[in-house]
Amino acid sequence: ELKEPLRVMISGPPASGKGTQCKFITNKYGLVHIAAGDLLRAEIATGSENGKRAKEYMEKGQLVPDEIVVMMVKDRLSKPDSLHNGWLLDGYPRSLSQATALHQFGFHPQIFILLEVSQDLLLERVVGRRLDPVTGNIYHLKYSPPETQQIAARLTQRFDDTEEKVKLRLNTHHQNVEAVLSMYKDITVKINGDVSKEEVFTQIDSALTSLLEQRKAASGSV
Ligand code: AP5
Repeated sequence: ELKEPLRVMISGPPASGKGTQCKFITNKYGLVHIAAGDLLRAEIATGSENGKRAKEYMEKGQLVPDEIVVMMVKDRLSKPDSLHNGWLLDGYPRSLSQATALHQFGFHPQIFILLEVSQDLLLERVVGRRLDPVTGNIYHLKYSPPETQQIAARLTQRFDDTEEKVKLRLNTHHQNVEAVLSMYKDITVKINGDVSKEEVFTQIDSALTSLLEQRKAASGSV
């Protein structure tokens, strides 16, 4: 029996498949999925001042300021379910200052999963993405079409999922990714995200399984 739950970060460019893989990971490993983008969209939905400010940045494909994002993520990580079941942090940290803040709050991941996807696939994935507001499921018109007409009729598109906006989001990603990677290089596992979602999960699953085995072996040897 392992004392400490898993603490996982997942990172990658916009539409690289983070949310899709997080569903697979939480189903198998029972971690609490915490997505910075989802927290921000929930804040926007409340109509709060922070939400309004956040939306201005998201519409430009820029990072929302730390004073809004950092405490939001920290508070979610500090809830009993995350502490008890372990967490899967998606889309955070996106800058060195965010990584440093998390570190200072005492949240340290055991593994940093980096999804690598070629640029032309990212564009295709963004423009074809659709969301089911009822279940929260992520679809793609070509790669993961909705199962029924009823679902198809209610699908929505994110306000920042246009080709123009994703180019801005990609620029922001490229400006920040190296600084974040430098913090986690010892625990980074690079995953080929160009293949089908099932094949991507197979790679992630084997990385998580071997992490758990290493920890078991280490605790057994004490
Ligand atoms: P956020 O919501 O995090 O967006 P993102 O990083 O751009 O990532 P996405 O959610 O767009 O994509 P994903 O990687 O989850 O891909 P998905 O699985 O859906 O952030 C939005 C904005 O919020 C940012 O621009 C920023 O302004 C702000 N923000 C967020 N975090 C912040 C932070 N920490 N600090 C400051 N600001 C922050 O897949 C995409 C599509 O591809 C889907 O249609 C899916 O079905 C399909 N697909 C997935 N995998 C495959 C596959 N293997 N093969 C074929 N299709 C696939």
